[in-house]
Amino acid sequence: MYIVILAGGSGTRFWPLSRKKTPKQLMSVFGGKSMLQRTLERVLPLKPKRVLIVTNAMQAEETTRQLEYVKGVPVDIIAEPVARNTAPAIGLAASIIAYHDPDGVMAVLPADHYISEEDGFCRVITQGRNAAINGYLVTLGITPTRPETGYGYIEADNAFRQHGPFPVKRFVEKPNREKALEFLTAGNFFWNSGMFIWKACTILDGISRYMPPLAVSLSKLVFSESVWELRDLKPQIEAIYGEIGGESIDFGVMEKADNVQVIPADFGWSDVGSWSAIPEVADADDLGHVAINAKEVISVDAGDCLVYGDNRLVALVGVKDLIVVNTPDALLVCPKERAQDVKKVVEELERRG
Ligand code: GDD
Ligand code: MG
Repeated sequence: MYIVILAGGSGTRFWPLSRKKTPKQLMSVFGGKSMLQRTLERVLPLKPKRVLIVTNAMQAEETTRQLEYVKGVPVDIIAEPVARNTAPAIGLAASIIAYHDPDGVMAVLPADHYISEEDGFCRVITQGRNAAINGYLVTLGITPTRPETGYGYIEADNAFRQHGPFPVKRFVEKPNREKALEFLTAGNFFWNSGMFIWKACTILDGISRYMPPLAVSLSKLVFSESVWELRDLKPQIEAIYGEIGGESIDFGVMEKADNVQVIPADFGWSDVGSWSAIPEVADADDLGHVAINAKEVISVDAGDCLVYGDNRLVALVGVKDLIVVNTPDALLVCPKERAQDVKKVVEELERRG
């Protein structure tokens, strides 16, 4: 099996810790290893043939540096000149794999997810590989707990089965709140975890069918015999990225395809999409505060705050449900319920140049 790690996102909701050159996946959100390093280490027990990391040219150097220590599995870093969302990144990786091994199964994993039960994760990926061999586009479904509008929803046809994989009736990417509520109460919907397992030829077939312009661009790639010498591909990748549009694989293929299957996955998953998700995956103290990298937290009539401390002493007085992120050159203070709006700070900074 091949592993493709998508690591080209910008993670703007994690400002000021996340910056263009070091977005969320390259950061050590919980202290210690970065999310990308954890993602790669998590797949090593699966003994992949190769790992392909698709990232942005701006992040390629730091990505390479962070993964130098990994031994025993070949790791290729593919740099996109510009971010075009997930469909081109996946199509590119699938084209490279298919040149060598068309029936090769690839597991596509985001670089910035938190998973608490790593053995369970490996078991589900193996189960997914078996379904993928039969020509399905396999998704891993998480039981939804709130009407989240930032995720894709998968309607499973689960009438007669206890365990997955289930055929998928419908895949709905990022519904509005009303629809999300409807799906949550229906009971047979999963969240799309954003992890996929399929044969390289199956996803390329989906791209040909539902995203013909992308397929045409990808078909222009000419591989040399030594396909894994990916440096040769750089000018070609630059040329095709100049002509392709940005689209996610969810809107581009998953919503339209009729060969999607879902495997329910229950391995302590969080996509850690914004600062407010950190308390879901980190331990809180008796007052409900979660402190990461803080030297010490002093709390006076305060509770349920998230503190990222840059090794400082942080004092909280009379505040509740606040996010306080302290970095050497910027400070963020934000109520937890407004965590999604942190990306607006980045937009404003970009406007100011
Ligand atoms: N190489 C590359 N290039 N990677 C990218 C790009 C790109 O242009 N854009 C995003 N990525 C990476 C991100 O770094 C992340 O690891 C992954 O692809 C998914 O992209 P997100 O931008 O985080 O997607 P999302 O969270 O809005 O939605 C997806 O994930 C949800 C679960 O977390 C969808 O698959 C949803 O359906 C799903 O519910
Ligand atoms: Mg995401």
